[in-house]
Amino acid sequence: MLPSVLRPNATDHVPVLADEIRALLDVRPGQTVIDATFGAGGHAALLAAELRRKGKFIAVDRDPTVKPYFESFKRRAGVPARFLSGDYADVLERLADNGLRADAILFDLGVSSMQLDRPERGFSYASDAPLDMRMDPSAEHSARDLVNEASERELTDIFRGFGEERYSRQIARAIVRRRKQAPFERTGELVDTIKGAIPTPARFGDGHPARRVFQALRIAVNDELASLETALPAALAALRPGGRMAVISFHSLEDRIVKRFLRREEHGCTCPPDLPVCVCGREPSLRALNRKAIRPSRDEVAANPRAGSARLRAAVKS
Ligand SMILES: C[S@@+](CC[C@H](N)C(=O)[O-])C[C@H]1O[C@@H](n2cnc3c(N)ncnc32)[C@H](O)[C@@H]1O
Repeated sequence: MLPSVLRPNATDHVPVLADEIRALLDVRPGQTVIDATFGAGGHAALLAAELRRKGKFIAVDRDPTVKPYFESFKRRAGVPARFLSGDYADVLERLADNGLRADAILFDLGVSSMQLDRPERGFSYASDAPLDMRMDPSAEHSARDLVNEASERELTDIFRGFGEERYSRQIARAIVRRRKQAPFERTGELVDTIKGAIPTPARFGDGHPARRVFQALRIAVNDELASLETALPAALAALRPGGRMAVISFHSLEDRIVKRFLRREEHGCTCPPDLPVCVCGREPSLRALNRKAIRPSRDEVAANPRAGSARLRAAVKS
């Protein structure tokens, strides 16, 4: 029997915005599909079904513990399927450089339900666990390293920049004070320090008081925004003309990167606006399939509260 950390749960597979993804990516038999964030394979299963036993599937994830989910997906996919372990930015660049051209690429960003639900991964403020948060457990730096080694200034910037945390400075100061006694080892110690650093009314306001700091640390530990910035052009390079890409993001920092990328590529020309004619000669390289980000329906959010902050943008390559 698999150890519990590797055992798939029934709730791991609920794919967010499933109908919308299916409609926008419009996968047809014979095509090549890349799921850049395989997770528990929920989206992969519905996209593979659209291939109707003809085509190819490539699954990417930087978390090697998704492997049992991939093995189970592969048995049912009906098409040849490969798993590529690593950061999607590196994997997509490599695939594009090797001449692969896909018809559909999906990004479903952030952490998976199974990463959040397994306390030993240290992503959740809801249970006391080792302070880790690495999506790839072999990565060099964990949240523990960051919390114990970053300067007060760096911590403040992380909490403010990646968590939009109002009490960033106070929390960073409290962390630095506490770690002088003993290094942080567990999520619970960090939660207690955050609670002690913010004014009492703020402890009972907008969600859990540690939510924004945990989000910020997770983004920093996994260098999520830099990966996304590199991955979007790499995905475009790995698409054939007419191929489609879709991105589901879960907070405004990610969505802003996606929106700007799509706008830039849709516009093409990079000449300063005061030039009377274009001299750069850059053509638009894609067309957005939706002007405004698509949000989940009320019914979907009621059934799956984690879908609540999802925003979907998609585009077709020119
Ligand atoms: C929200 S989950 C995907 C869930 C999946 N769509 C499903 O239906 O089961 C995001 C997954 O992407 C992976 N991931 C996040 N950032 C990544 C990156 N830069 N490179 C590769 N995988 C990444 C995470 O490890 C996680 O398994």
